[in-house]
Amino acid sequence: MVDIKPEIRYYNNCMREQVLKYLQQEKHVSGEELGKRLKISRTAVWKHVKELRKLGYQIESSTKSGYTFMQNPDLLLAEEIENGLITKVMGKNIRHFVQVSSTQDIASELAKKGLPEGTLVIAEMQTQGRGRKGREWISVPDGGLYFSLILRPKLLPSQVVQIPLIASVAVVKAIKNTVPLNPEIKWPNDIFVGDKKAGGILTEMSSEIDGVNYVILGVGLNVNIPASFLAEKTGGIATSLINEVGKPVSRTQIMRHFLVQFENIYNQFVTSGFSSVREEWKNLNNTIGAWVKISDGTREFEGEAVDIDERGFLLVRTDNSRIHQIVSGDVTLRIRADKH
Ligand code: BTN
Repeated sequence: MVDIKPEIRYYNNCMREQVLKYLQQEKHVSGEELGKRLKISRTAVWKHVKELRKLGYQIESSTKSGYTFMQNPDLLLAEEIENGLITKVMGKNIRHFVQVSSTQDIASELAKKGLPEGTLVIAEMQTQGRGRKGREWISVPDGGLYFSLILRPKLLPSQVVQIPLIASVAVVKAIKNTVPLNPEIKWPNDIFVGDKKAGGILTEMSSEIDGVNYVILGVGLNVNIPASFLAEKTGGIATSLINEVGKPVSRTQIMRHFLVQFENIYNQFVTSGFSSVREEWKNLNNTIGAWVKISDGTREFEGEAVDIDERGFLLVRTDNSRIHQIVSGDVTLRIRADKH
């Protein structure tokens, strides 16, 4: 098990990556041979191997036969996510941290410094992870996916509200590509498995009146968090993929699938608008057709969710046949009282 130290560290060392790649490919190699290939000394090879071990890679060494690569750690290191990643933009620049306050904060600092669209900030653990409406987002080392992506869409600020909707489609598809589950989206962008929440999405934006400077798209997903922990912390309203599948789930695989799915859907959205993604969102949601309770800060009422419109607003029909357009707010799925 890796020692998660409470300090911000950025693991992206080029030579160390090369040493790792070589070891992963060859499985078994002497320090001398590795040094020759990479044009570094045997001492330098040893230094990188020691660093890789600290990150959780299992590499055995013996004076006689050199290094033997045994196992990857379950860490979301850049070199792990990049391995086999087929995107053009998303995740092409990865910053991995052991612990941060919130990946949203780090990504926003980097965006201010001009880092490009697709830059991914990912952490094993957040001390001040936040959710929608200023709520706390609990994170557990090794247990979840906590990441933020820098986006620089050429959109009007009013269109940015649709980004979490399209991102939720990508999250659901990424989970489906990785494990045999059938997650669904609760409007606008909560990720549900059965009747429990497994993930959520938060977007924050810096904009002028006429344009967007950058958007930070944050995703939190409970992957390998034990059921008992979630039950205690959330009172049983949340779940984690491990509980649903019955065995640990690869966070790296979900991350990679997400980046691929999101890149496709984002390109489609930026060129053709939300209407081009709306059907897909509708196919994956659990809200339309359900009896729902809406709390939007000023009012609370119940009705049937009948559709989402081309702006992503939820349309709710109350008993007096009035259709309400919900722009933002909390939705609770209900069983209609008079159906009992
Ligand atoms: C919600 O459902 O309320 C949204 C939760 C979003 C949580 C993620 S975790 C990564 C990123 N960093 C944060 O502080 N929040 C988002």
